[in-house]
Amino acid sequence: MERVRFGIIGCGLMGKEFASAAARWCHLSARIAKPEIVAICDQNEEAMAWFEEHVDTIVFKTKDYKELLARDDVDAVYCALPHNLHGVVYSDIINAGKHLLGEKPFGIDKTDNEKILDALKAHPEVVVRCASEFPYYPACQELIRWIKEGRFGKIMEVHTGINHSSDMDLDKPINWKRMIKINGEYGCMGDLGIHTQHVPFRMGWKPKRVYASLSNIATERYDRTGKKVPCETWDNATLTCEMKADNGDEFPVYFEMKRMKPGATNEWYIQVDGLKCSAKFSTTDPNAFYYTESWGKEQGWCRVGVGYKSMIPTITASIFEFGFTDAILQMWAAFMMEIEGKTPEFGCFTPQESALSHKLLTAALRSHKEKCAVEIEA
Ligand SMILES: NC(=O)c1ccc[n+]([C@@H]2O[C@H](COP(=O)([O-])OP(=O)(O)OC[C@H]3O[C@@H](n4cnc5c(N)ncnc54)[C@H](O)[C@@H]3O)[C@@H](O)[C@H]2O)c1
Repeated sequence: MERVRFGIIGCGLMGKEFASAAARWCHLSARIAKPEIVAICDQNEEAMAWFEEHVDTIVFKTKDYKELLARDDVDAVYCALPHNLHGVVYSDIINAGKHLLGEKPFGIDKTDNEKILDALKAHPEVVVRCASEFPYYPACQELIRWIKEGRFGKIMEVHTGINHSSDMDLDKPINWKRMIKINGEYGCMGDLGIHTQHVPFRMGWKPKRVYASLSNIATERYDRTGKKVPCETWDNATLTCEMKADNGDEFPVYFEMKRMKPGATNEWYIQVDGLKCSAKFSTTDPNAFYYTESWGKEQGWCRVGVGYKSMIPTITASIFEFGFTDAILQMWAAFMMEIEGKTPEFGCFTPQESALSHKLLTAALRSHKEKCAVEIEA
């Protein structure tokens, strides 16, 4: 099987998820080029030590990502760094001629995102995508097929979101994701926004106008020394967005991105309400696909257990269940197919979609500040 030699820049939470997905490539029954992690970079020795213990293909480690990029034995990079580093590091990766799977928000702000897209214009030979794994749940893939097949009839509205509750613990210490200078002005929208946009944008629904409600609920948190410091970022965001589909239909899409939603643990969902029927998927019931049947003039919700019917076939039988790490593996397999020049049924979030994401989130910040709906530039 063909191999693509990878460097990882940023060996934290998400870097490890990639290492785990690469380690179980045998799980896929489709023949797709295998990522082989040969080089790692992190400023923290401890983070790299985990990789040295668990990944036996590593031949190089460094604290300076430029040394990793200078290596001929690195074909592609997974970059999972704090947001303030995306603009410069992603551009350097692309300019070094390496394929890139970068992380959201793909630039700390719109200006940073534009720099990354400029670098890509000069290097069209590299494949660049942004990580977004939730749409790969089989039940969500089923919902996407229903949209493509027009089974909802005229779409009336769409609700989509991702919510967490761990910040409800006011004693949870502050980290970089709650600091504007590292996480960015977008706050929770930068962290969570792309997760909610992947399906709507891919369905060709373009945001035209947005009204944003943003809340900074926990205004202070403890730092590592136990001192209370300002916690400036937006905790919760709700965007009411007027979207236009390729067929000219317009309907609202409600985006919910919350760090403080009671009871939610990485809860991602999407619901499409149409005139003919509606359907929904949520990671709180990960194997279920819900849809409505008309019962006379009334509608009733039906639940089907979809099981492990993944977009890219695996060794797991369809009678079993699918979870978060399976979604990560599917996303990686889709990215590797794109590197191979193949077209997966549902591809990874593109740089062009990230540009749209930044236009939407920049407009959302203005909307909240000026307390009005804001047009989104075409
Ligand atoms: N796809 C997802 O579901 C998902 C989930 C969480 C985070 N993320 C994204 O992943 C990215 C990283 O988040 P994380 O949660 O893994 O963060 P993290 O803090 O766990 O890891 C970041 C790593 O980068 C290292 N680092 C910082 N500055 C560096 C530098 N200059 N050079 C080299 N290494 C450096 C840190 O030491 C740390 O190990 C962010 O863009 C975040 O939005 C994605």
